[in-house]
Parts: sequence; structure tokens; C-alpha cells
Amino acid sequence: MTRRKLIAGNWKMHGRSADLAWADRLSALMPLPPRSEIVVCPPATLLSGMAARVPGWVAVGAQDCAAQPDGAHTGDLSAPMLADLGARYVIAGHSERRRFHGETDALVRAKAEAALKAGLTPVICVGETLDQRQGGEAQSVVLRQMHASVPDAAAGRIIIAYEPVWAIGTGVHASPGDAGQMHRALREAWRGGDGEALRILYGGSVSPENAGELLSRADIDGALVGGASLDPARFAAIIRAAG
Ligand code: 13P
Repeated sequence: MTRRKLIAGNWKMHGRSADLAWADRLSALMPLPPRSEIVVCPPATLLSGMAARVPGWVAVGAQDCAAQPDGAHTGDLSAPMLADLGARYVIAGHSERRRFHGETDALVRAKAEAALKAGLTPVICVGETLDQRQGGEAQSVVLRQMHASVPDAAAGRIIIAYEPVWAIGTGVHASPGDAGQMHRALREAWRGGDGEALRILYGGSVSPENAGELLSRADIDGALVGGASLDPARFAAIIRAAG
């Protein structure tokens, strides 16, 4: 089973309209489409501007969506609204949303289901804290999160991102061996019979310096890149490292 690599940038709460020039710089750095699938997830304020400006080989994704399509949910943005702005992917259950917005596995699952219904591909995040890793519970925690926050759907419609919380924004990435082992465990625990078709990204301090080593692991199907995705030159270097 060959799974196409996917490199996604998560801008988090960064970016103003002037930063849409990122798209022009990325096109200039990479005049030919790369072999991997490329996604950028800017803040929702920049979604439509980004969708209009990126080269054809870059898809745009959102960072979160509501579980409902419409209704009395002040301040929320629904999956159909994000699709209407040009998004094709949406991140669900990033650890920052779980931690700062109290998102539970059940809510993450409902959001991912809403994304699927709107025709978006959900990128569902799972990952253990440092305490959980040090306590020897990393694998059980991550598998439990997957079972509880991933909807029943064909593997090809879903993307999972393994993002150990201790690796996010710290400059300390998981070793390729540890990440590869977790990805294998997730694939083997996948409920459907099609785990080999499931794409699992690694996220947490991915950089041009470590991307090659991480992405060469058979079970690591791509990267969810935070900080390094803001700089087009660093993002392009990560795309090149994916081969
Ligand atoms: P960093 O790449 O900045 O560690 O962020 C990872 C992340 O949270 C991507 O979703």
C-alpha cells in the first residue's frame, strides 16, 4: 500500500492579510508541484484570501469547526461555512483546543463527523502529555483517544495526526523510532479492516533539520507543522525533505 505523503502547515493564531504573500513566496521557491500533498491551515480570517492565492498544488484547511452546521452558536464557524470559503481540510481536536477550550473526545468526534458531512477531510489530533509518557501510558492514552475521537469512516476519508503534547512548540521532537512505533500501533488498532490505507501524520517541532529522518519512516505519512510553516523557506525545505 503506497500512501501519498501529506505536509500540512498549521499557522495557529498567527497571520494578517499582509501575510498572504507567503503563498507567492512558496510558489517562487517551488515552481514545480511536489510529489506530496500540501495543505496550509491559516486562521479562518485568511481562509478565502489564502484559497485564492495559493498555487493549485496547495489545498487550504481550517483549524477547527463547530459540530453543528448552523444555529445559535455565537462566534463559532461551521464546517459548511469553512467549505464555502474554500477549505478542503479541517483540523479537529488539536491539543491546544482540548486544553484551552476543554474539548472532549466526544466533541472532537462530533466535529470530525460534521467535517465529513460537509465534504471536508478531518485531520484528527491525538497525543500524550509528558507525564503520561513518563508514566509509561503513552500508547494506551493515544489509542484510547483515537477510538473515542475518530468517527467510523473509511480510512481514506480521515487523517490522524500524532502530536505528542510535550513536543509541540518546544523544539524537542519525538524520535523517529518512537513516532514510527506509535503510528504502527495506531494503524494496527484501527477499527476498519483498512488500516494500511490510513494516513498518519507526525506533529511536534518538525523542522527542515529533522523532517527527512522522520518522514523516511514507513509508518510516518507526513507532518503537521506549526512554527516552521510560517516561514515559506522552512516550509519548502520540509516539503523537499518529504521527497
Ligand atoms: P510546532 O511545529 O510549532 O511544534 O507545532 C506543532 C503543532 O502543534 C502543529 O499542529
